[in-house]
Amino acid sequence: MTELAGGTVPSAFDRVARSYDLMVALSPGYHAQLRSSARALVEALPDTPGRRPRVVDLGCGSGASTAALVRALDEAGVDAEVVGIDGSAGMLDQARGKAALARVDFRQADAERLTGAELGPVDGVLAAYLVRNVSSRDRLLGEVLDVLTDGGALVVHDYSVRESRVATWAWHLTCWLVVIPLGFVTAPGSPIYRYLWRSVLDFDGVQGLAGRLRAVGFTEVEHRSAAGWQRGQVHTWRARRPR
Ligand SMILES: C[S@@+](CC[C@H](N)C(=O)[O-])C[C@H]1O[C@@H](n2cnc3c(N)ncnc32)[C@H](O)[C@@H]1O
Repeated sequence: MTELAGGTVPSAFDRVARSYDLMVALSPGYHAQLRSSARALVEALPDTPGRRPRVVDLGCGSGASTAALVRALDEAGVDAEVVGIDGSAGMLDQARGKAALARVDFRQADAERLTGAELGPVDGVLAAYLVRNVSSRDRLLGEVLDVLTDGGALVVHDYSVRESRVATWAWHLTCWLVVIPLGFVTAPGSPIYRYLWRSVLDFDGVQGLAGRLRAVGFTEVEHRSAAGWQRGQVHTWRARRPR
């Protein structure tokens, strides 16, 4: 199997959960880029008079993005409740095993059906490497908009190469020289790293996703590309539910 249909992605992550942290550790800049996006979210959190802010790491996986979020909150001195949501039980097991994430409320749920997850007021959502993987991006973003408080912030962190020929070729090289061979070693038989290659080629371009966010109802949509060797491939979008 080389392709994953929408909705089957979390179960594919179950099968690579144990080697996922090793794989991302071999990707230079992965954690630093997540920290940069997490800081972008923390800077944009609205005031929440009388209660602690609540932030959600949506598609938290094994907790790499959650760790970035917790660190950004701590560095900014923000005492927030942190919820991690993922569809993969295997990835959540990895996240729950991390002492540094002991304060995080990890839950298994479908990110495309958040309204039933009884989250309470949500002031910020980090979605790292998630939006590309769901069956309906518009439905996912609409659910996020619904659960955010007025003025609440969303940060999307993901690969996007479609609108740049240079980034597209750099992505082919990154995948065929590094990601797919390493995936073959760390998770033999899994389709997930070939799926990663194809799904990024199929994903929205930078302006395409910005337009999608506005069309769903987000305002103040901003974008920046990652620094370093993946400039043009890894991106951060920030948007807000209207105040
Ligand atoms: C590439 S991993 C990223 C994990 C983490 N955010 C990080 O940055 O390392 C994508 C995660 O999204 C989850 N996922 C994909 N579709 C989902 C859905 N519809 N609902 C919940 N989780 C989903 C997968 O199970 C997987 O753990």
